[in-house]
Amino acid sequence: MSAKTGINDLLLNQLIEHFYNGNLNFCLQKDDIDTMNWDFQQAFLDATVNSELLKQYPISGKFASLYLKKIIQNLEPNQEVHDDFYSQLCTTMNNLNQDGFSYRHYLIGNDTNNIVTIKETRNMVVNGTTGLKTWEAALMLSDWALCNPEIFANKNIQELGCGVGFTGITISKLCNVKSLTFTDCHNDVLKTVCENIQINFPHYKQETAHDITMFKDQEKSLSVMMLDWNTIDNLPDNVIPDIVIGADIVYDPSILIPLCNVIKTFCTRNKRLEVYIASVIRNEETFALFLKTLDKMDLEFEKIQLNKSVLIKWDESIDKCLLKINAKLE
Ligand SMILES: C[S@@+](CC[C@H](N)C(=O)[O-])C[C@H]1O[C@@H](n2cnc3c(N)ncnc32)[C@H](O)[C@@H]1O
Repeated sequence: MSAKTGINDLLLNQLIEHFYNGNLNFCLQKDDIDTMNWDFQQAFLDATVNSELLKQYPISGKFASLYLKKIIQNLEPNQEVHDDFYSQLCTTMNNLNQDGFSYRHYLIGNDTNNIVTIKETRNMVVNGTTGLKTWEAALMLSDWALCNPEIFANKNIQELGCGVGFTGITISKLCNVKSLTFTDCHNDVLKTVCENIQINFPHYKQETAHDITMFKDQEKSLSVMMLDWNTIDNLPDNVIPDIVIGADIVYDPSILIPLCNVIKTFCTRNKRLEVYIASVIRNEETFALFLKTLDKMDLEFEKIQLNKSVLIKWDESIDKCLLKINAKLE
């Protein structure tokens, strides 16, 4: 209990964290509920549904209404319930995101002042792409990058299969990169990543030239461009990254050769290139085939240990791998 505010801060922070992490799987004990007085409830509402960020970029109405209902059901027998819980419940129930998109606000280091906001769906496949939601490997790779920011500082980075852009946006925001290019093969994905860059970098100037959308300020430039691993012949010669990243792009056996070809092409352009690919291993054979294909193309790899989530929450129980890949030395 905070001596200054009289609020049970530990419980308050846990509930705020569950809310932002999309977690409904928690229990409240009677002792906890007894501490959830009016001031506590006000502090919770201010940090979540009443915040300017959430008013501008609402989270999934379905999740928000289930979450608020759960809190109300726990409070009602024991506490006077803050009116805003009921009014916000009505708002969220009317806001059931017809098009399937809503916003997720990812807390960095459990800090409500350090948030990456992403417009995305909760569905695994929409319009024939898996790229319209943030996948677990994106959270893992970003967390690892935030723990190793020196690798990315002042570097030109290229992301393959960027999806809605969580990894690239988080690294761009928090790792002091020089430039980052988001690439993907799907138009809806590219459109959504542009919207997500605008949300997270609202002051950047936007320009479009030669099918590349650029967002710039004095120090950094972010670009979005189509790059289909199957058709890299027209990849402009001046695209020479220092670092290539990719999250959850090793899942389809039919694209492993094109994907490795892209990596090889960038390694040929820059002999010192470092490639970091984070994967959730759903099928061991597919992953083994990826490693074999890298080897056949004279690409070296090492596995980087990922043990615990540090600044970004991700599921530690899954079978996962972060690979560092580079060209074999001649
Ligand atoms: C599982 S999603 C991962 C998205 C994002 N990296 C993440 O982890 O949240 C795979 C992404 O790879 C992209 N992708 C699949 N095949 C591709 C190809 N041939 N060329 C470029 N991108 C491709 C998809 O459009 C999708 O955005």
